[in-house]
Amino acid sequence: MRLLLIFPFIAFLLLLPQLAAGKTRHYKFNIVLQNVTRLCHTKSMVTVNGQYPGPRIVAREGDNLLIKVVNHVKTNISIHWHGIRQLRSGWADGPGYITQCPIRTGQSYVYNYTIVGQRGTLFWHAHFSWLRATVYGPLLILPKRGIPYPFAKPYKEIPIIFGEWFNVDPEAIVSQALRTGAGPNVSDAYTINGLPGPLYNCSGAGDTFRLKVKAGETYLLRLINAALNDELFFSIANHSITVVEADAVYVKPFETDTILINPGQTANVLLKTKPHFPNATFLMAARPYATGLGTFDNSTVAGILEYELPSNYYYSTKKFPLFKPTLPALNDTSFAANYTSKLRSLATAQFPANVPQSVDKRFFFTVGLGTNPCPKNQTCQGPNGTKFAASINNISFPLPATALLQAHFYGQSNGVYTADFPSNPQNPFNYTGTPPNNTRVSNGTKVVTLPFGASVELVLQDTSILGAESHPLHLHGFNFFVVGQGFGNYDPHKDPTKFNLIDPVERNTVGVPSGGWVAIRFLADNPGVWLMHCHFDVHLSWGLRMAWVVLDGKFPNQKLPPPPSDLPKC
Ligand code: C2O
Repeated sequence: MRLLLIFPFIAFLLLLPQLAAGKTRHYKFNIVLQNVTRLCHTKSMVTVNGQYPGPRIVAREGDNLLIKVVNHVKTNISIHWHGIRQLRSGWADGPGYITQCPIRTGQSYVYNYTIVGQRGTLFWHAHFSWLRATVYGPLLILPKRGIPYPFAKPYKEIPIIFGEWFNVDPEAIVSQALRTGAGPNVSDAYTINGLPGPLYNCSGAGDTFRLKVKAGETYLLRLINAALNDELFFSIANHSITVVEADAVYVKPFETDTILINPGQTANVLLKTKPHFPNATFLMAARPYATGLGTFDNSTVAGILEYELPSNYYYSTKKFPLFKPTLPALNDTSFAANYTSKLRSLATAQFPANVPQSVDKRFFFTVGLGTNPCPKNQTCQGPNGTKFAASINNISFPLPATALLQAHFYGQSNGVYTADFPSNPQNPFNYTGTPPNNTRVSNGTKVVTLPFGASVELVLQDTSILGAESHPLHLHGFNFFVVGQGFGNYDPHKDPTKFNLIDPVERNTVGVPSGGWVAIRFLADNPGVWLMHCHFDVHLSWGLRMAWVVLDGKFPNQKLPPPPSDLPKC
């Protein structure tokens, strides 16, 4: 009898660590100017706490984060926690004029959210104009205490964040480009953890990221592509790596020499070091995968992998040879297709792939470039004297003057947005064939409204207008499953029969193949307003974005709570 009473109590105690709410972690982000020198250019740039890259956030699944952002610079800013689901905390998502008005000079805002059901590598970045060029940093989520990785515990974990360095102020570059209609100037270097490395002119001794490793150990590299406008290949000379996670979701491990990582994507990879001191050092290098017609920065960033000398090593002054990796050709689209097809969800009982098996709402969106006419009394430097634009279903999306989420929450969408974003292209054409003569986009702040809990299938089709190009499409507020991809035009009859509904990769950013299509599915289980856009800032600025409005569900835990009292005003 007594035992019977005690048993449930013990069971309760055993469950306690699982039930215990996560920790609350406080961070303070002071947005300040800081002088930074790279490639012999010193510039004053917008940073968080004077750090470049910005501070690392480390939390655990289940934790509550309270990040107070105080804006001490002249420009407006907002911060986005890229890949965080923000379940019922859309007010903390961060894209300027979508979920909040920007934080003005002298003002502050506390981003308050809980990490639910996610663990892995993500990052945070400014989500206003091109400020994320300098304002970004890792956001690392450890599994709950006592829950191991689905792979052997690594000896050490190293964040590696790729960025883009501009010798001049990136804000000046984008404002000039938007004024003239031309393509913006490209970056002067790529960086690894803020450092360009030895392959650039005028790169100082301290400007190289060095990873010192022990022989015979396994390192977890947490890779993040925070570059503005470039997809990157990355490889380490004479070492292969094992991919174990993409966008903070575990994948079936696979080995590769080179990975492809798009802006907005993250990847965890295991690096097994050589069993014995190799008498050599190794470059790890990244350079772009580029498919568009425009110019791009085709330089190479490198860091150095060096082994600790064994204690019994007879010291010699002899310099060790430096090995360099071979990276795919700049436009190696077949590598890209092959690489992405290897990514599969782990899909185990503990980490299932909850792929929506049926579909409530189907959408077909074209993504690509286009033009806007040149305003009167101006000359423009875009294609044929126009201005460059970019669009989804030929609609280029201007930012409103007030945040969409507020307008939605208070039922004041009038004059802010319209809910008539088309589910399909209004003028179908041969998307990947000879482009039409008329390249003009239409402009509109348009959204799609989804009922709570709708299961959505979305096909993203690249177009050849002004050149086929791979576009890293990012969805806020959700992970999605990449159920299919292919080249040419999507065939709604044949292609769905080949969809993977068992173990497709689950992620938040996917490359729409150059001259091809990709199909994704997600469950609209998060009420709010969610931006979807190309994660090339150049295309984002040209209007390659739209938003989904997910309505409240019936039950209290399916409704978006009211905004926090310090939410910035426009
Ligand atoms: Cu990483 Cu809308 O952004």
